[in-house]
Amino acid sequence: MSIAQPAIVPDRGAFALYVVMNVVGNKQNVIAQCQSIHQLLADLNAEQQDAKLHASVAFGKGFWESLGQQSPAELTEFRQLGKGDTVAPATGGDVLLHIHSNRHDLNFYAFRVFFEKMAQDVEVLDETYGFQYLDHRDMTDFIDGTENPQTAEDRANVGVIAEGEFAGGSYVMVQRYVHNLPAWHRLNVQAQEKVIGRTKTDSVELEDVPAASHVGRVDIKENGKGLKILRHSLPYGSVTADHGLLFIAYCQRQHHFDAQLESMFGETDGKTDQMLRFSKPVTGAYFFAPSMAMLNSL
Ligand code: HEM
Ligand code: MG
Repeated sequence: MSIAQPAIVPDRGAFALYVVMNVVGNKQNVIAQCQSIHQLLADLNAEQQDAKLHASVAFGKGFWESLGQQSPAELTEFRQLGKGDTVAPATGGDVLLHIHSNRHDLNFYAFRVFFEKMAQDVEVLDETYGFQYLDHRDMTDFIDGTENPQTAEDRANVGVIAEGEFAGGSYVMVQRYVHNLPAWHRLNVQAQEKVIGRTKTDSVELEDVPAASHVGRVDIKENGKGLKILRHSLPYGSVTADHGLLFIAYCQRQHHFDAQLESMFGETDGKTDQMLRFSKPVTGAYFFAPSMAMLNSL
């Protein structure tokens, strides 16, 4: 049986860390540190009750193939989508580290220990600390995660490749969004609900979900089956500087991300996600998170 990396299937704790890096030096050292992160977290978990640290490391297509590895069939680099004011930039990255836990301090500590052994070999593109906000709300004050798969079995089925050479692996998508909350708060609640496609207080799907609402854009069916993804996003930032949602999701198909992004950014039917009037992505990348066995065999 191929085991997925520990961050993927379990629900997240209250805090997370997302780091995207390019490799500029010794690749073998970077790989060795990526392999050792899981033992580092296991040791911390043994010492620190209820920390529940979980990590996954994932690799961009170019870097993965530079290791002499074959890519899973659907893996591509992220491509820029949209036009004008509504663009999803492609900012890339060789290595993604995702840690979630109940402890902000230990997320920081673990990354410091991991990073100091390879500081000369990588260039950090983005280091973002997320935190659970209110009752699992995004900073728009809407509940985020209602339609996420909930049971461990459903989460594994959605998030992890079940069979074949890449079993236990997962496609990963990351985009950091910056919100414009003053503009968002100029809408009344009813208008906000039409932008999201669900009610604000209880996250009930609207009877008539507007086609250009967020839910209208991403709740896609193909041959009668919903394109499910496993989201691990959290709000991040500070009031007087950038803040918003660090969007991250895992899936057993990259196709689900491609279809949802094309729909949001106007490449399916010309309609764009109305939420993008209030939140702009400033990063965008695809990665592959190999199974534990494949990671350890690198
Ligand atoms: C649903 C917020 C970006 C995919 C939702 C919901 C909210 C939300 C409030 C409704 C509750 C729920 O089911 O979780 C946001 C915000 C984003 C963002 C604030 C960025 C600023 C994205 C992106 C994708 C995505 C980039 C995928 C490309 C989904 C999916 C659902 C969802 C698949 C569930 C739809 C359903 O089955 O009803 N999001 N989202 N979201 N979002 Fe997002
Ligand atoms: Mg639905």
